[in-house]
Amino acid sequence: MKELIGASLKYQAGKVQVLDQYLLPHQEVWHHCQDVVSMQNLINKLQVRGAPLIGLAATLLVAYLAEQGAAREELNEAIDALEATRPTAVNLKHCMDCLRQALQQHDFAGAIVQLAEQLFEEDVALCQRIGEHGVSLVEAADNILTHCNTGALATAGIGTALGVIYTAAQKFGDIHVWVDETRPLLQGGRLTAYELKRWQIPYTLLCDSMAASLMAAGKVDKIFVGADRIAANGDFANKVGTYNLAVLAQYHGIPFYVVAPKTTFDAKCIHGGDIEIELRCTSEVTGVSGSFGECQWAPDNAPVFNPAFDVTPASLVTAWVFDSGIYYQPEFSAV
Ligand code: MRU
Repeated sequence: MKELIGASLKYQAGKVQVLDQYLLPHQEVWHHCQDVVSMQNLINKLQVRGAPLIGLAATLLVAYLAEQGAAREELNEAIDALEATRPTAVNLKHCMDCLRQALQQHDFAGAIVQLAEQLFEEDVALCQRIGEHGVSLVEAADNILTHCNTGALATAGIGTALGVIYTAAQKFGDIHVWVDETRPLLQGGRLTAYELKRWQIPYTLLCDSMAASLMAAGKVDKIFVGADRIAANGDFANKVGTYNLAVLAQYHGIPFYVVAPKTTFDAKCIHGGDIEIELRCTSEVTGVSGSFGECQWAPDNAPVFNPAFDVTPASLVTAWVFDSGIYYQPEFSAV
């Protein structure tokens, strides 16, 4: 397989390597992953996360195993096991379905390697095109609010919603970003803040519950968020807390944009109610953990509700930004 280099995933010197997103921003640790169980653990613990990235990381591992001479049945089992790690983001399923097709080829190892290179490079190009389309929605001096992390860390390229913000910052120079910390796992406070700092884009971090008063004060011009799965009718799943923002945006008359590559669109999913929402462990809500260690603030055995994602109805979306263009309400079916 050729060298593939992204901000948090690479294939280099014959190794699949991932940047540990659980340890960011204070420790930059790369792991060398060479078996299915390790990749499952990395994805389950969100050391590897973000809809496009989990699909690509799983794909690179399968391609690595194919190159090592793994048999067809072994690869089939690897694909099934990796697909089962996280249910909500359709990108993982999309990649695994492509791998299953490649596995039917006579030279399945060659076909899988070629596919892995193609999917990685395609994601870079998709992010680029998304940025080029999305930037037309941004004006100089905009204050943009975003949720979770949708940047280079979550993709092979510049990112999706954060990729639009990056492109706009390059164009205008005076964009300011409001960053939701994104409880419970703090992808905004840890990862988006880390990326914006590196890119030297001015940002301000806030707790998720502060977004309403910020909007009421007229300090948010636009909202850009990513997606883990977009249904045929435009409803979409994204990091929990996205739906809150969409409701608030409509109340305050603020444009609300969802940004994603075509690989996040699931034509087989008729509406948001069909999207499986991942439920995660209680300790993410009863306390916090990371490179700084861990602590628990809730009483022992406190009952917890912890869905990783929520579904935003299409009626709250101003426009969908895809790599193929920008689509408003009546035209969404043309995507
Ligand atoms: O649980 P995570 O961190 O994988 O959730 C990520 C998100 O919800 C992102 O917004 C989405 O995957 C898009 S990333 C380009």
